[in-house]
Amino acid sequence: MKIIQSIEETRRIVGQARREGQTVGLVPTMGALHEGHFSLIRRCREECDYSVVSIYVNPAQFGPGEDLKTYPRTFEADCDACREMGLDLLFAPSNREMYPRENLTWIQVEKISEHLCGASRPGFFRGVGTIVTKLFNIICPNIAYFGQKDAQQLAVIRRMVTDLNMPVEIRGCPTIREADGLALSSRNQYLTARQRQQALCLSKALNHAAKLIGNGQTNPEMITKAMEKIVREQPEAKIDYISIVDKDLLHPLPEIDQPVLIAMAVLLGSARLIDNIIVDPAQKKS
Ligand code: PAJ
Repeated sequence: MKIIQSIEETRRIVGQARREGQTVGLVPTMGALHEGHFSLIRRCREECDYSVVSIYVNPAQFGPGEDLKTYPRTFEADCDACREMGLDLLFAPSNREMYPRENLTWIQVEKISEHLCGASRPGFFRGVGTIVTKLFNIICPNIAYFGQKDAQQLAVIRRMVTDLNMPVEIRGCPTIREADGLALSSRNQYLTARQRQQALCLSKALNHAAKLIGNGQTNPEMITKAMEKIVREQPEAKIDYISIVDKDLLHPLPEIDQPVLIAMAVLLGSARLIDNIIVDPAQKKS
């Protein structure tokens, strides 16, 4: 596996693979790799001839007061894991390589970026859209892999690729969870043992919502109220949002009469945790 910082060299090496007719796959990450990332990497390895992972903690998607400085960085362990998984290239640029001058050009996906996480993290999706576009322009992957764990990010990127005719196929991959239901996240490391226990309220609330819809409940407000109650039972948990939205455009729905995305963000100590599920009301319990 090659570990490369330089954009120019990455372009040259990956370009060679493409010219040889190999299918190039990309898994963009911010490092601190865990089983969630590994599931994307494994799928990329299975489906592509040439697999690239990028590790870059992108300053442009962190707001003032967010965790850019403390974001977990485990580069050596990440390299070992990527090598073991048989990756071809690890692209790990510096800030100076990615943003050598003041950046004046930004990608903004309207509407889809404005709800949910976009409301509490202004500028976040602008940072994500811009860095993912830069990575696509550097690596030129045929296929890129993203987790359903970050459902809004996936929706934003899908729409960006469609609207801008980017020649890359986006594949969404299922959320990987701990045995007790907590969705894996690099930010779970911020949790104390007690907060880790309380963090189960996210998956519990989502499962409860799915059960209510399975039993025929179609009123989003009734469901979000029931979810809020589950989260409020945890002393340190503070709700950022709980929303039931259209699964592609992410706007709130007055009634659950189509497959919906149920998404939530909860603050627990210094961690902001997000989770979601897609529920199809047509699949009612018999
Ligand atoms: P990061 O949080 O490192 O996540 C990289 C990819 O792994 C994302 O597509 C994310 O959805 C996926 N992922 C994280 N946890 C997962 C889980 N438990 N199950 C399945 N997939 C999971 O998301 C980012 O980085 C950045 O915003 C990035 C796209 C790299 C742009 O900077």
